[in-house]
Amino acid sequence: MCGIVGYIGEREAQPVLLAGLKRLEYRGYDSSGIALILPKKNSIGIRKSPGKISALEKLVKNKPLSGVVGIAHVRWATHGAPNQVNAHPHLDCKGEIALVHNGIIENYEPLKAQLIKEGHVFRSQTDTEVIVHLIEKFYKNVPLEDAVRKALKLVIGSFAIAVIAKHEPEKLVGARSGSPLIAGIGKNENFLASDAPAILEYTKDIIFLDENEMVILGKESLKITDFDGRTIFKKPVRINWDIAQAQKNGFKHFMLKEINEQPKILENILNTRIDKEAGKVIFKEQNVSEEKLKSIKDIFIVACGTAYHAGLVGKYVLESICAVPAQIDVSSEFRYRDLLIGPDTLVIAISQSGETADTLAGVREARKRGASVISICNVLGSTLIRESDGVIYTHAGPEIGVASTKAYTAQLIALYLFALYLVRIRGVLPVQKISKYLDELLKAPKQIESILKNQDDIARLARRHSHFGSFLYLGRNINYPSALEGALKLKEISYIPAEGYAAGEMKHGPIALIDEYRAVVCIAPGSKVYEKMISNIQEIRSRKGKVIAIATAGDQEIKELTREVIYIPKIEEIFSPLLVVLPLQLMAYHIAVKRGCDVDQPRNLAKSVTVE
Ligand code: AGP
Repeated sequence: MCGIVGYIGEREAQPVLLAGLKRLEYRGYDSSGIALILPKKNSIGIRKSPGKISALEKLVKNKPLSGVVGIAHVRWATHGAPNQVNAHPHLDCKGEIALVHNGIIENYEPLKAQLIKEGHVFRSQTDTEVIVHLIEKFYKNVPLEDAVRKALKLVIGSFAIAVIAKHEPEKLVGARSGSPLIAGIGKNENFLASDAPAILEYTKDIIFLDENEMVILGKESLKITDFDGRTIFKKPVRINWDIAQAQKNGFKHFMLKEINEQPKILENILNTRIDKEAGKVIFKEQNVSEEKLKSIKDIFIVACGTAYHAGLVGKYVLESICAVPAQIDVSSEFRYRDLLIGPDTLVIAISQSGETADTLAGVREARKRGASVISICNVLGSTLIRESDGVIYTHAGPEIGVASTKAYTAQLIALYLFALYLVRIRGVLPVQKISKYLDELLKAPKQIESILKNQDDIARLARRHSHFGSFLYLGRNINYPSALEGALKLKEISYIPAEGYAAGEMKHGPIALIDEYRAVVCIAPGSKVYEKMISNIQEIRSRKGKVIAIATAGDQEIKELTREVIYIPKIEEIFSPLLVVLPLQLMAYHIAVKRGCDVDQPRNLAKSVTVE
């Protein structure tokens, strides 16, 4: 996730900005940069570098910048490779305005084309650069903030920005819509940041900007307005977090923060991927041609761990919506099989990190056999991206907790959207049916929010069961993968033996395990297999197994069988894995915390398994 820091005051800005960027490193990034107003030279100085902040520090050590007003940025690349040119800050044509941005500008292509027509010269491939050229276009005999307002009115998408201009050296402007931005109030100095950790060292008095608000800072002045210039009065809040807590936004662990980020992240993904008027899905960066997608005869999904579970949901979805045969295998098996795939096969590789060794090896095998590869990945510039024919970014932002949560639901969304994209290209479903599916999908973020509102009850239920020595997770059909994912979440952070199973398999072995010492999580939302799940629950109860049920709100029948029920909102069956996984993530988290485990860095595990 990109990070912004801004400073205006009496100190040398460079060390303040670099220290602030370091406090934002946890957000994940692949390049960084700073820009200062250089009063002695009456110009803007800029230093940018790909890679870690240490590379930027080396750069400024050799070529320091001196000034008391500046902006800085760590970039998590979404448009344009993570290199020096695409790193922020970005400048206008004359190098008299500098800007940093966090978010995605959806309409940057038409804006860029128009600006080029008007003579603007672009240096980067980023969406961000259009904003600074728009400001330049309007910055004629008006204050900087007016030019910024005019520019932002043309922008569609999410943004938090910080801007400085050579001609108004005592001014630092910030604005937000869809991405967070705060102002920090100091003594003879003021700050801007994406997140409190960047500035807590200097001030704990913070103003959280709300949607479509702008702040104009001087070293001793602060003014907040809406995008029409109307002044808004906001009281500062005193933050009592320490730096470490603040990096987690006040949550105890990154995993809990990332579980709670899911509604906002999924909403952003859906809003940038669905053209609601046309009722269609947009994948700009997906480069496998429509002709190829029309011609494929089968699909093979390859992934590991949680990504494999997302892929397994994808298999059900692709077969059900697209009527295309879809196979799946874990990457470590796929890569050694005598694969019957070729030019008529589409391989979908799913990986949060894009660096998982087995998945990369699987992709190389697939391409050797002439298959086309589309990867569903969360890290721009990762190896997997470079070795795929097409890519669908999950845009979940960096996932810090080792146990994958928001990346999983973002992978599910990517698979649902890809199925609805493919089905339109192959003409398998009428547009109305596709629109109906998309409308249902658009409800999911709010439904996830409603589950999160109930997380204290889920935490209590989890703690009541944290003493069990082993768990069995049972699900059927499209929620069989949910059972696998729930078991993986629990085992990897609490170290409790946990197995996910197709509920129909219970009689073929696992039923021997059922007794009063085993907790059994039964995933039983309203579905075509609901009655079958009820039978499983009755079989477990008759053997004194302890049942925890995930059910659809309003289901009274299941309450007759167990008191331990977590309800999820009613949703189209095919999309239910998106909601079912929330209670499973929260249960795993709270059981692990109760058992004193290191939730964010569980023992023996790495965030990305880059070796076999
Ligand atoms: C999931 O919680 C685990 N951290 C792990 O199974 C992970 O999903 C797996 O290693 C795949 O990683 P990737 O998505 O980066 O390829």
